[in-house]
Amino acid sequence: MITKDTTFDIKHCENSAIDQVDFNNIAFGKVFSDHVFIMDYADGEWKKGSIEPFGPMTMSPASMVLHYGQAIFEGMKATLDTHGTPMLFRPEQNAKRLNFSARRLGMPEFPEQLFVDALKTLVDLDKKWIPPQQGSALYLRPFMYADEAFIGMRAATRYKFIIMASPSNPIYNKRIRLYAETNYIRAAHGGTGEAKAAGNYAAAILPTEDAKARGYDQVLWLDAQHFKTIQEVGTMNIFFKIGGKIITPNLDGSILAGITRMSVIELLRHKGYEVIERSITIDEIIEASNKGTLEEAFGTGTAVGIAMIQDIGYKDTTIHVSDESPVGQMVLDTLNGVRAGVVPDELNWMIKVKS
Ligand SMILES: Cc1ncc(COP(=O)(O)O)c(C=O)c1O
Repeated sequence: MITKDTTFDIKHCENSAIDQVDFNNIAFGKVFSDHVFIMDYADGEWKKGSIEPFGPMTMSPASMVLHYGQAIFEGMKATLDTHGTPMLFRPEQNAKRLNFSARRLGMPEFPEQLFVDALKTLVDLDKKWIPPQQGSALYLRPFMYADEAFIGMRAATRYKFIIMASPSNPIYNKRIRLYAETNYIRAAHGGTGEAKAAGNYAAAILPTEDAKARGYDQVLWLDAQHFKTIQEVGTMNIFFKIGGKIITPNLDGSILAGITRMSVIELLRHKGYEVIERSITIDEIIEASNKGTLEEAFGTGTAVGIAMIQDIGYKDTTIHVSDESPVGQMVLDTLNGVRAGVVPDELNWMIKVKS
């Protein structure tokens, strides 16, 4: 069935795959909801968007994204409140960040209101795919890539913007171990580290696999010049509690400005904690650990939520961080609670999919 509204054409899938999903046991990133949102850019403008059944797409072997890597993405979550109402967490922030990434990669910006409207339309259509348990969510993946068939190094003239949705359970139910990388870097000043560019992740795959082979969960990225200043972790930003103060690396142009990071800073300040955004080195963490002032550390990101850090491997040593993370746990419970509508949304983060 095809329905047309003024904004998007909607082609409904014939057979929903929802019955094949066990919401208590979802492998992250492997299961996709029934529909995707698709919008094309050509002739200098975004065309009319449509919602279509999820399925394979055709692409020219000369599609520019395959050769020059103009690809950016976002990650966000839809949840249900206690009344079963679908909600989105700060989608306008993802719209802004997508456009920041687009500018850095020489891609066209996507209209921010349209971004939010497309998300709402897709989530409303696939709302049965939102897992009801607190901590679980329908993960949303908006992305944009160059889709012009052309071999040659320049900005493409044709792009696709797509949103797909994937139900997810929490990723880490354990404390994690980080490996502070001193051979490879994620980002340097003037590079693309501040953009959510697919190429950043490609460059991180080998070091991440190496870290996993050594028994760690994620890479702790250090600065490109001296391998000292802490940037971020895998797909998360990082927070430390040292001597009663919360410290997180400042956004220096090489760090992805996490929306969870921004929300955690706002939440902690709202609760009366002192949060300092400043440059922090691995040496300072070692010193705090030796002095006994390193109280806890946690990573923050949409897919992972809040991941409590147990220890950090650095060169030949292991820095034991902590076995408990009371502040991290409070933040995790608050964020999950706000998303599930059981904790008051005092900072006005949530928006209803249908108002
Ligand atoms: C490299 C990187 N840093 C940090 C984050 C956390 O960002 P957010 O809180 O917006 O998910 C992510 C996830 O998107 C990421 O990929």
